[in-house]
Amino acid sequence: MAKEITTTACVISGGSVDALAKRIADGLGGMLIRAEVRVFADGESKLRLREGEIVKGGRAVIVQSLYPPVDTNLLRVLCLISKAREYTQDVTAVIPYMGYARQDSEFLPGEIITMKVLGKLIREAGAAKVVVVDIHSAKGLELLGAEATNVSAVPALARRFAGMRLENPVAISPDKGGSERAGLFASNMGCSLIVLEKSRDRRTGAVNITTKEAGAVRGRDVIIVDDMISTGGSIVKAAEFLKGQNSNRIFVACTHALLVDGAEDKITKAGVEKIVSANTIQDRAGSETVDVSGEIIGALNRQQT
Ligand code: R5P
Repeated sequence: MAKEITTTACVISGGSVDALAKRIADGLGGMLIRAEVRVFADGESKLRLREGEIVKGGRAVIVQSLYPPVDTNLLRVLCLISKAREYTQDVTAVIPYMGYARQDSEFLPGEIITMKVLGKLIREAGAAKVVVVDIHSAKGLELLGAEATNVSAVPALARRFAGMRLENPVAISPDKGGSERAGLFASNMGCSLIVLEKSRDRRTGAVNITTKEAGAVRGRDVIIVDDMISTGGSIVKAAEFLKGQNSNRIFVACTHALLVDGAEDKITKAGVEKIVSANTIQDRAGSETVDVSGEIIGALNRQQT
């Protein structure tokens, strides 16, 4: 029989952001449980919460980011939610990097709105509440359900840049969709904002960038603010455009630095001096990080009141 432990909160780490899960557990004054994970030769994961660590009737907080291997990490978070739900009704999923959030609309006829499916799966597995960090869009958050909270790493990122010596800095949003996020960065840093106009061919993926404020970045240090870097394609395009406009040094502030497919090299070659991101992705060499555990703990505390 499993030993029952009563505690304020039981934070269960699925392994993808273990260090962040530990900070969250410490901040909540709770207990950290690291799920035991075995991977079979065919790729299946088998998870286990060891006997004596299972919380009953308390609060369970599952922590897992959905970066590559995305589907594996997704399945693991669903399994952990489901297992925790057997012991308590109070299950919250903290998914710092919410993968699939860009799939929030039917851009081409027949496309699946994957975020809608994920919202259903997470709720059905047993998590009534969700906390995410800088989710790609408000629509994605809505699809997660009523009790989903988004917190932002942007003020922490802005604080990091405010501590650097920069030449007449300006925050750059690489597209209109990110203008609110970059605006938040600019106001926290006390600098101006330029929103680039990016268009993407949905079939070929080809990207084109323009701005109505030609010449405004000349001789200035620029900070491109984005929610995420995956392959680095968007940042490379923006950096090349800004160089062409005779900007000075180029920096990137992004929440989720997935940096797949040699992204860091491509970004460096495009002239970016430094990337600063949040600790929503584990062990990402090539990016300095800021800690977002305080924001997550704040949201978890607010959800309980
Ligand atoms: C786009 O709307 C997003 O905010 C990111 O800019 C983009 O998805 C990053 O992907 P990648 O690094 O592959 O260009």
